Amino acid sequence: MSIIKTVVVTGGASGIGEACVSRFAADGWRVVIGDIDAERGEAVSRGIREAGQECRFIAVDVSSEASVATFVEAIYEAFDRVDALVNSGGVLQNAVRVTDLDIAEFDRVWAVNVRGTMLVDRAFARRMTALGTGAIVNMCSLTTFRASPQPAYAPGKAALKSMTETMAAEFGPGGIRVNAVAPGYTLTPAMQERIDSGARDPKAVLDQTALGRFVEPREVAETIHFLCSDAASAITGATIPVDCGWLAYSAYKAYASQPE
Ligand SMILES: NC(=O)c1ccc[n+]([C@@H]2O[C@H](COP(=O)([O-])OP(=O)(O)OC[C@H]3O[C@@H](n4cnc5c(N)ncnc54)[C@H](O)[C@@H]3O)[C@@H](O)[C@H]2O)c1
Repeated sequence: MSIIKTVVVTGGASGIGEACVSRFAADGWRVVIGDIDAERGEAVSRGIREAGQECRFIAVDVSSEASVATFVEAIYEAFDRVDALVNSGGVLQNAVRVTDLDIAEFDRVWAVNVRGTMLVDRAFARRMTALGTGAIVNMCSLTTFRASPQPAYAPGKAALKSMTETMAAEFGPGGIRVNAVAPGYTLTPAMQERIDSGARDPKAVLDQTALGRFVEPREVAETIHFLCSDAASAITGATIPVDCGWLAYSAYKAYASQPE
């Protein structure tokens, strides 16, 4: 009898997380959506069930230790195993000078993106270790690798690469792989909102990207699904860019001379 695999997707109510929910469900996984947005989370979950796949929404605020503990308890009460965890619950930040940064914004971004990832990862890793198998994917960014005028978001995303490597080393002997993806500019609701409000210039994105376009959420989901599959059984501790070539092209274009 084949085992039905279970994946937990935080931030599964929108954007990259929502695309992951669809991707795993299409492959026959049982999906648990964890999100702070209950209305959207329930709607996404309903849509997946209406398509004949298994999905359930459970509310969570990843920045709260108590909320994460309740979330994990509820999942393990309902299911005997979690095979994969995707951390897509997160918040973006608009450009701001360090000297103008509201430190409350710094605290909020770190509480969700960094502390939230730590809380969720370690809670599931404890249970996965008991099972002796599991895959975790964290959400980094281009700012993991490059400077950016987002003085809360960018250092937080750099910290997540280090956290991913620490966890890969610690959990590896217990059979758990921990990786991260670093999406480029991805057309999610959060990104679209910023383009619409003028907080991101789409031309600047397209001009700096080798493939000349935005990343689609489903393309990030595809990489995450791969990292959680047996096809990636030797990959752990990696942070993989999914960026339409922004990292390569922006550096290439910044070089002091260009070929004729
Ligand atoms: N869109 C991009 O270009 C891009 C690029 C690189 C990295 N990322 C990262 O991808 C992740 C998802 O971003 P997105 O663009 O899909 O955004 P999104 O806003 O579309 O989705 C994020 C989801 O996280 C949820 N969330 C926010 N705070 C939460 C909390 N405290 N607890 C639980 N859930 C919470 C939101 O409700 C939302 O459903 C983030 O970590 C973001 O930093 C996005």
